[in-house]
Amino acid sequence: MERRQFLKLGVVTGGVFALGGAMRPGGRSAFAQSTATPIVDRLVMTNVVDNIYDVFAKGGTLDTITVERMRGSIGVASPAAEHGLAYHLESARGSEQREILLDFALTERNLFNNYAVLKLDPSRADALVISHGHADHYGALPDWARVYQGKFKSSVALYAGGEDTFCQRMLTLPGGGTFDYGRLDQAGLEARGLKVVLAKQATSVAGHAFTTGQIPRLTDFERPPAAARLVAGAMDSACSPVHFGATKVEAKPGELVADTFQGEHATAYHVKNRGLVVITSCGHAGVINSVRQAQKVAGIDKVHAIVGGFHLAPASDDIVAKTVEAFKAINPDYIIPSHCTGLNTIIAVHRAMPQKLVMPSTGTRVIFGV
Ligand SMILES: [Fe+2]
Repeated sequence: MERRQFLKLGVVTGGVFALGGAMRPGGRSAFAQSTATPIVDRLVMTNVVDNIYDVFAKGGTLDTITVERMRGSIGVASPAAEHGLAYHLESARGSEQREILLDFALTERNLFNNYAVLKLDPSRADALVISHGHADHYGALPDWARVYQGKFKSSVALYAGGEDTFCQRMLTLPGGGTFDYGRLDQAGLEARGLKVVLAKQATSVAGHAFTTGQIPRLTDFERPPAAARLVAGAMDSACSPVHFGATKVEAKPGELVADTFQGEHATAYHVKNRGLVVITSCGHAGVINSVRQAQKVAGIDKVHAIVGGFHLAPASDDIVAKTVEAFKAINPDYIIPSHCTGLNTIIAVHRAMPQKLVMPSTGTRVIFGV
């Protein structure tokens, strides 16, 4: 591929990357079910909803992935962008196919519009994953459950990383006061027939993907957003501070507690002969912490792609620089920053490793594997 074409993809590359890399012998996993790390031949990752829609973004085949773009034009329905995130993940192992929906955007209007424009049938999903309890990821999920009640597969479960996914969120405002960031109603989803699984440990999803489980904070530079708060419930409730990871805090019901995103988890695949594709969704646990946890639980070091959001838009230059240094150490083949990553980090990644950067857009499909 010519250098000019790479530039149009948001990528400048120096050549073919080595595949394989260091996989620990046996690929021994640490899943809750004590199963081996699932492996797939192919993964098609579609950004159903993302923060931008770039009609000029070019597609093409890079060294080991293919990027397809959604074309909108006058008179043809276009995918809609918003501050929200939703993925459709379709994987194959031999003739066996699985579809997973990861996160559910902010508004049902845009999510359902984009499912239709992208010709996706959400009722075909084999599993659902919610990354954490912020409305830009779960916003349309209650409507999803209402619209597809009785239509989705009876075996479908919603994988959440902890109790706090379903607790009341608030944001503190710079000028004082708070902003109500809502609450995902677990009982409401279950009333629609959705089984909710709290996957606090690494968990195989639909036999093809895995969630990381709750993510240890290993780095000293990744911090949860300072403005994020949870509303404490009674100590014997699912929304007590015990479940927020702040077990030393004995808050009274209704008080605000710093949000550590205890139950945020990443979603990942092991793509055969490529390595791990790790999707952080919003990355409040830290993108580096998330990737390290995926490597640890899978027993696989080689990272094929790190997919955002990385939630570094508000981060200082120092934190961005440390994150980029850690990216270099992990040495993925591709970095695909979306949603809340921030232009600061995108520019820094482009400067440091331009050949690895792929810019997604709402409707973008990335094909991993064969
Ligand atoms: Fe987000």
